[in-house]
Amino acid sequence: MHIKNFFLSFLILTIELTSNVQAAKFIRNEQTLSCLDRSFIPFSDKCSTITLTPCPTDRFQSFTESFEWDIIPVNSSLKNSPIIIKSDKFCLSALPNSNNINACSCDSAATNQQWILNNDGVLNNVDSGKCLGLVGDKVALGTCQAWKFYHVAPHAVNLYTSKEFTGKQEKLLVNTYTSKSLPAEIFSSAFSLEIPPGFEFIVNKSNNKVEIFESDIAQMSPIDSLDSIIIRLKPGMIIYEEPAYFGASKFMKVGPSELLQTMNLGSALVSEGFRGVFWSNSNFTGNNIGLFESIANFTGAPVDAKQLSVASLDISATACQNECGSSGTCSSDGTCACKPGFTGDRCERCLPGFFGATCQECNAKCNKICDDGLAGTGECKCNPGFTGETCNQCAPGFFGNKCEECQCGNGTCDEQGNCSCNAGFLLDPKNNRCMDCKEGFYKSGKECKLCAPGCGSCEAETGKCQCLPNLKSSDDGLCEPNPDLTCSPDEYFDTVSQLCFKCDPTCETCFGPGVGGCIKCQPSMVYLEGSCILLTQTTESKCSPSAVNQAFVIDNSKRTCVTCPSSCLDCSIPNFSEVSLIEEVQCTKCMPGFFLNNGTCVKNCPENKYADNTDFVCKDCDTSCASCKGPKGNECITCSNENFFALDGVCSSTQCPSGFIALNTTCTKCHSDCTECTGPEINQCTKCPPNRPIIKDGQCVEVCPMGTYADETGCQKCNADCSSCVGSRPDQCLGCSDQSKILLGGSCSGSCPAGSELIKSERLCQNLVTEDILPPEKTREDQKQDNYFNTSKGLEWWMVLLIVLGSILFLIISVMIMRCCAVRRRKKKTKEFGDQIDDNFVNDNLKTMLRNAREPSQPEMSHDPRPALRPHEIENPLNQRAAERHQKTMSISSDDYNKWKKKPTKSDKDWGGFNNIANAEGSNSGHRNSKRSIRSTNSISTKRSYNLPLNIDGSREGNWV
Ligand SMILES: *[C@@H]1O[C@H](CO)[C@@H](O)[C@H](O)[C@H]1NC(C)=O
Ligand SMILES: *[C@@H]1O[C@H](CO)[C@@H](O)[C@H](O)[C@H]1NC(C)=O
Ligand SMILES: *[C@@H]1O[C@H](CO)[C@@H](O)[C@H](O)[C@H]1NC(C)=O
Ligand SMILES: *[C@@H]1O[C@H](CO)[C@@H](O)[C@H](O)[C@H]1NC(C)=O
Repeated sequence: MHIKNFFLSFLILTIELTSNVQAAKFIRNEQTLSCLDRSFIPFSDKCSTITLTPCPTDRFQSFTESFEWDIIPVNSSLKNSPIIIKSDKFCLSALPNSNNINACSCDSAATNQQWILNNDGVLNNVDSGKCLGLVGDKVALGTCQAWKFYHVAPHAVNLYTSKEFTGKQEKLLVNTYTSKSLPAEIFSSAFSLEIPPGFEFIVNKSNNKVEIFESDIAQMSPIDSLDSIIIRLKPGMIIYEEPAYFGASKFMKVGPSELLQTMNLGSALVSEGFRGVFWSNSNFTGNNIGLFESIANFTGAPVDAKQLSVASLDISATACQNECGSSGTCSSDGTCACKPGFTGDRCERCLPGFFGATCQECNAKCNKICDDGLAGTGECKCNPGFTGETCNQCAPGFFGNKCEECQCGNGTCDEQGNCSCNAGFLLDPKNNRCMDCKEGFYKSGKECKLCAPGCGSCEAETGKCQCLPNLKSSDDGLCEPNPDLTCSPDEYFDTVSQLCFKCDPTCETCFGPGVGGCIKCQPSMVYLEGSCILLTQTTESKCSPSAVNQAFVIDNSKRTCVTCPSSCLDCSIPNFSEVSLIEEVQCTKCMPGFFLNNGTCVKNCPENKYADNTDFVCKDCDTSCASCKGPKGNECITCSNENFFALDGVCSSTQCPSGFIALNTTCTKCHSDCTECTGPEINQCTKCPPNRPIIKDGQCVEVCPMGTYADETGCQKCNADCSSCVGSRPDQCLGCSDQSKILLGGSCSGSCPAGSELIKSERLCQNLVTEDILPPEKTREDQKQDNYFNTSKGLEWWMVLLIVLGSILFLIISVMIMRCCAVRRRKKKTKEFGDQIDDNFVNDNLKTMLRNAREPSQPEMSHDPRPALRPHEIENPLNQRAAERHQKTMSISSDDYNKWKKKPTKSDKDWGGFNNIANAEGSNSGHRNSKRSIRSTNSISTKRSYNLPLNIDGSREGNWV
């Protein structure tokens, strides 16, 4: 047979590990943290008593099997189930005619051994309806109480190759698995899953369908088409009482939550992209730690002993650029999810229609409009356009059932929205508005002013008059009869007939016939839009109380009626007499939207007045206020006395209390996230409350972001060693920048002891052989470094340099010599081997090796028909586990392996020969690497499996002889 054929096929030799840690279930009494324990009584093989004993708490200690209970479901529903003590086949039994409960030999027909498992963990005896309970401190049938099951290793999903939690058991840690890394059985037969709280078992099917499972499944249908299976933590974290993810555990999902009972902090698994803030008090106060990554051992962590218990915690995503305020929780899409009523990037303010520090909803009566916002009072406000106590009337300026806004401009609407224009304005019927001036008026600013009588037209703004043709301009800009015409003063000249005619008797002078032709009225009369009206009262300044909006006032100097000032609906001259001046005119009623202020109409009341919405008048504040919301002394906004600050509307304090900031003589409340501040915004804090003790960029936050720690001034960068930390020193880490290092206490100086590997998702070391979890030890380099620094203390720099240079020189020379020798040796060996090699010899080698391997205990062997992983698959760390699982084919116990390894037999040399052939043939380097690891005594780099290329006389499948 050709040599090449040896390497076309090979078997993978795997040393199977005997596992000490099993996923045992304990039945735990919640109140006393104790577990059901069977007392072994010698020679009593029928029944033995049950006691309560403190539960096993340490994954590093072995525990007695008498603790371990299995629930064997009668139905797949897990409802009626005998509870069997592990391996012993003793069943939890209610004794007939007594309250005692013992562990007795199992009898599948005995109903007194069947238990009903309720959701809350209470176990009911099928027979009597009583529960597993405590009578005194003895386990007995009694009143129902809560019991709990928990697992020794609840930090992983347990996959059983058969249904009902039987068959081979695989522990699946947080990772991605492909079909190659999973037991073959799950593709052909039903299997079962134990999924601890907080874990998700995600099946990605090849047709892109995704199924997610979150709790135990007694019977899963075989998987027909698999892309991958992902074991993942749900958003949140799982905290464990004991280090190494052991003891009682609780899954805490995103959001703030209080634990009912304080829980010790032993270790925590943190879902990626999330962080937890652990508080020692139940109200999110006390000492806190921010945890951004899983931590396997809080013992010796650089935190206060007080912080090692947790009473409340707040879990959120870390994806948000802005720190969410206390009313928000960062979600994984990078935005703050706000509590109801809140809004904003950081959930820092109330939604419209919500008010107060808790952003509660406005009273339903308010129609969603109230004095809203964090500082709001919640007082109802009507929708724009509405008014009245129940907001069922139209506010001035609004009309109709829907209280639509009046669009008249310089006029008011009636119920139907028809305009009545203010005095001097002309209704434009096309668009129902009053913008232009009617005849006889000119536009001056916003007003329409009266043209002088006798003017043919007036110039806008100035009012400059073009007198009618038969009149002449006087020196004061008015019009008067032309004296060149021969008419007398009470006559007018008619241009058509060229004759003089008498004026109307109301006129003193005129330009034409009738009441409309006056230029000047008789002394007891005033001119109003072309007519002269008789004044009945000399103390009344108003010209005509007649039509809607047509308010005119007497201008004594011109004896005419003029329009009220802009935005005025009515006006008068106070204490009117013959000598009153038009300049003394005062508005008495304003257009809608304006407030009457000292005789004028204004949009906004001046500083020291407030707008009274009942009569639309600007009214005086209390004298203590410089500005106010109302007339009372507790409605001040600012104070008139500069030494006082308005606190809750009252101007009596010379200082603002804490929680307020003095701004313009007002005590403004700080944002509810701060206790002291420079302004009302969320990022203007200067002092923080105990539930958000750290100040970061002016905002009070629970903890500093990952990679930083808090000091008095804010958040500072961690030491380069730490990925997260509690202080600046390298021994204050909570996580390591170098992912191959492990926390030892608070420093990243730990590594896995020889023969164990680091489980990255858990930051734990696991023995390759026994699967025991081992505490990390100080890395070699760290020890060396310590020594180096200790010894070099006394040395001068040049001595150190000399030593270093010397070492380098020595190294170079050594390498050159070694290379030279190695090349020569390899040439020789290759030649020797080529001379010796033949098929029989190789087969002999194989047999010898296998005999050696089997000698101590004859381990089982099998062969996996599935194709081996390609080298690149093996090198990928995610697939390493895949390779391991796939390669679990031939099993030799670890002891056997070690015995075999220690024997410096002939086979050792033989393997050397294979190695050389592999090199010479340019065969796949994956084999070579594995080969190396098996030959080294200490540095085993892959877990559980050691791959050896074996020749099986050329056939693909191969057979063991
Ligand atoms: C929080 O609880 C602690 C005790 O657990 C108490 O001393 C403290 O006053 C509480 N703080 C608040 C803000 O309720
Ligand atoms: C009144 O009319 C004037 C002139 O057309 C205009 O400038 C002003 O805006 C109008 N007032 C209102 C309230 O519409
Ligand atoms: C009110 O107006 C009158 C004249 O129109 C003026 O003399 C007086 O000072 C004003 N009062 C205030 C408080 O502005
Ligand atoms: C946890 O740390 C403590 C102190 O450093 C150590 O004694 C203990 O063995 C560690 N436990 C584990 C599980 O690593």
